[in-house]
Amino acid sequence: MSGDKLFYNEYEHFYEMAEHSDAFRYFCKDAFGDDFSQDGFSDIKQIDRIVEHIPTGRESHMLDVGCGNGKMLGYLQKRTNAYIHGFDYSANAINTARKLFRTNAEFRIGSIGEIDYPPEQFDVITSMDTMYFAPDMEKFLLQAIGWLKKSGVFFICYQEGDVMPKTDNKDTTILARALQKNGIPYEVEDITKETYDLLRKKRETALLYQKAFREEGSTEWFDMLMAQTDCATESFDLFAKKMARYIYTVRKR
Ligand SMILES: C[S@@+](CC[C@H](N)C(=O)[O-])C[C@H]1O[C@@H](n2cnc3c(N)ncnc32)[C@H](O)[C@@H]1O
Repeated sequence: MSGDKLFYNEYEHFYEMAEHSDAFRYFCKDAFGDDFSQDGFSDIKQIDRIVEHIPTGRESHMLDVGCGNGKMLGYLQKRTNAYIHGFDYSANAINTARKLFRTNAEFRIGSIGEIDYPPEQFDVITSMDTMYFAPDMEKFLLQAIGWLKKSGVFFICYQEGDVMPKTDNKDTTILARALQKNGIPYEVEDITKETYDLLRKKRETALLYQKAFREEGSTEWFDMLMAQTDCATESFDLFAKKMARYIYTVRKR
């Protein structure tokens, strides 16, 4: 299931709530190791894997596709000094990002397919749980690779079993097939077990914050977190039949 502006109102609402909820900020810090207003499933361990791809010692530029309120980019800028760029269709998210990060930072409001950059701009492009929303994934993949400098890296966290259908393995996903069809070499790491453990931690942490969410009047967050993590209440074997998570890295030649 993918398409233009899918879940648009839900994300506007999500980032409006994220701006005002202290309970969610603390929850993210405890569940993921830092607060990036995650709606995806990326904890600090996954995000730190990006750092090794960002060149240091010269001005480097990185782009996050579906950057939300930019907090992950802000963290990576602190670690590497990179110039950060991000786009997201949520105006609420981008308005927060523009308030939070003002130096060596550029944020745009727009959808995948509408936004464009000149060729060979970026050392690193990331897309954490956002490729699913491309109206044409193959077309967007080629466009994004065009934005990379030579030797630049496209780092994609990609999940199956919720938005995308579950396929057999890391080389049969819709993304992997699009890469193969275009002769684009990739590396892929299966992080399904890591994700299962993270979802369980996310659920335990949400339960610890249940009272804080209620007192703040944002029980809605708690309900959303319970629904998101319900799949990890069964055994790992059952979970892995329905869900999978991978990190794909594509290096431009
Ligand atoms: C699952 S969330 C992931 C957010 C963040 N990258 C993370 O890992 O927490 C998907 C993000 O993509 C944005 N998004 C969804 N569809 C989009 C589209 N068609 N164009 C641009 N952004 C989109 C949403 O607003 C949201 O910030």
